[in-house]
Order: sequence, then structure tokens, then C-alpha cells
Amino acid sequence: MSLTAMETPAAWTAASLAADPGWTCSLGEQARRGLAQAVLRARDPEKPLLSYRRADFELGAAMEPLAAAFNEAKHGRGIALVRGLPRDMLDAAEFELLTWAIGLHAGVPRPQGKASQYMSAVRDAGTTYRSAGGRGYSSNAELDFHTDSADVVLLTCFNRAKAGGRSMVTSSTAAHNRLLMQRPDLAEALHEPFYFSRQAEQADDESPFYPNPIFDTCEGRLFSKWNRNRLSTAQRLEGVPALTPHQLEATDMLDSILRQPDLMYDMDLQPGDMQILNNHVMLHSRTHFEDHEEPSRKRLLFRLWIAPPDSVRLPESWLPAYRSIEPGTVRGGIVGQAYDAARRAFDGRQAADIGMRFVC
Ligand SMILES: [Fe+2]
Repeated sequence: MSLTAMETPAAWTAASLAADPGWTCSLGEQARRGLAQAVLRARDPEKPLLSYRRADFELGAAMEPLAAAFNEAKHGRGIALVRGLPRDMLDAAEFELLTWAIGLHAGVPRPQGKASQYMSAVRDAGTTYRSAGGRGYSSNAELDFHTDSADVVLLTCFNRAKAGGRSMVTSSTAAHNRLLMQRPDLAEALHEPFYFSRQAEQADDESPFYPNPIFDTCEGRLFSKWNRNRLSTAQRLEGVPALTPHQLEATDMLDSILRQPDLMYDMDLQPGDMQILNNHVMLHSRTHFEDHEEPSRKRLLFRLWIAPPDSVRLPESWLPAYRSIEPGTVRGGIVGQAYDAARRAFDGRQAADIGMRFVC
């Protein structure tokens, strides 16, 4: 295998990202008001999220900065931060609908877990992150660096924690470059398949685990997919090969590189912030948090996973996880165990609205 360093805009360091804030933007007053009005006009408290259409939301002056932010995440530095969503003009349910409206304009939202839910409230619901069926987003634990299971993830912040809950992002391309420079043998090991647990959320046609290399290339691009928690829990499943000492050394070194201060960018999301990440080139993490006592002040973010219309081809080795590697297709997500006719109809309708191919 001959691996070479990749110099792309996504191969940033903490210093270079901080030096050029072109990946961040703050919405102006007109855009903020327009978004709030779009949501309040369209909102019907009786209507499920899946029944809304893209055309129900006229995003107005916010359209352009939002599209630029998604573009930066998808094709530029892999990360974007939009500040100033109208958190102060909306309650939590309305803010959730605003997140959904933005998602409907960005692509086809994907299901995210066992319940095949398309929207996840990121809050401490008492989940044990390290358990066989554990998920980080519903716990208050410090999370390992990982990728989410879709092309793009967006996270909007309604309330921050009393303490902690900081968000960390590292470029997987920059991490790969460093590993390649220091230990090319370990970088090469990460291009071989590893086995990840589906955390007992698999659909009927899926196995409890799947193979995926941590890095792979396709059409000259480097892709990364990593989740230590799912790698560890897979080791307890029947049929999963035991990790070799060399593989363990490679993953340990990757994790240590991801936390090197010159590569890791650390941010504290404020109410009204939206973070957008391209999971193929960014790895993210979060610190443990302590919550407020009052329910209305507890940490609350909304998370969407998106298949965008202008996605690129994925490596063949991504097929078990994404179910399609073709560019511009409805792919990724965690199909889960409640993917029914209504969800399938939503996927088809939304794909058609946005001009994407949906093969069920
Ligand atoms: Fe995540």
C-alpha cells in the first residue's frame, strides 16, 4: 500500500482554523427574524416532522449564509459554525422545527437509531455510554472521538450545560497525515477492515456488526470512519475476530493524535449556534457535563443526520455501513427497527423534492 499525505482545506490544524474564521458566520437580524417567522407560520403542533415538506419553509435571507456554511462543511474545511439562530424567539419545540426546516433544505435527513428517529434530542437521558446498547448522545459522559453514521451531521444548541459539554473537533485528514509521518506501519493497519458493533440497533436485514476500515481512499479523497466504543463492544460479539496488538496500537495512537492540542479544536456551543460537520473528514468528541437542576434549563441540542444531494462517491468498504456508496444518493444513517412505510414514503418524497436518487 502506498499512502501519501493529503494537503486539502480539511487538513487544518487548530491554529490554522482559528486564524481564518471564514468557516463561521453570524446571521443578521433580518435573517434571524425571517427564520423565526418561517417556522411560526408553518408550525402545526399536531403535525409529525415527517409530514412537513421542504416548500413549507421559506428561509428567506438566511438561505444564502446557510448554503455557504453547508458548502464549507461538505467541500471545504469540513466544519462550519452558524451563530445567531433565533433561539430567543422560539420555544424548544419551535427550535426543533427550525432545525428540521434547515435539514429539509440541506438534503434528506436520515434515521439515527433503533427507533428509526430522524431527529435526536441530545440531552442526558441517563444512558450508559459504555454498555452494549449504549449511545453517547443520550448520556452526559465524556465521549471518545468518533464519526456519526451519515455524510453530514448538524447540531443546533438550545441550552448549554451548567458546566462542561464542550465540543471538540479534529481533522481526520490531518491526523492521518501525522500518523503517516510518525508511524506509517500503523497508518497502513488502519486501512484494513475493523469490526464495529451496531449497538443492538440493527435492522432485520443487518448483522449485529459490520466491517469498515478506519481510513480508506476513493477518487483521490481520504475518508475516515471511527468509533472506539463500537469497536470495543463488537469484541464481545460472536463471530468478530479479536483485535491484534498491532491494530490496538494503531487505534491507541490515532486516539492520542486526535487529542494533540495543535490538532484538536475546542469550542463551547452557545444557544442559537449550529455546528455542521462532514463526517468523512472530521472526528468529534465532547467533554462530560453537569446539568442544571431546572428541567427548562437542562442542556439540549438537536441533531440531524443528512444525505446531501452533492455528496461524493464513497469507498467500496463503506457499503456495509452506508448501504449505498453512489454519489448523490440517499444513504447512511442507522435504519433501526421502526423503518416503516411512513418513513420510506418520507425518504422518497424528500429525495424527489431535492432531486436525489432514492433506491429503497
Ligand atoms: Fe457524534
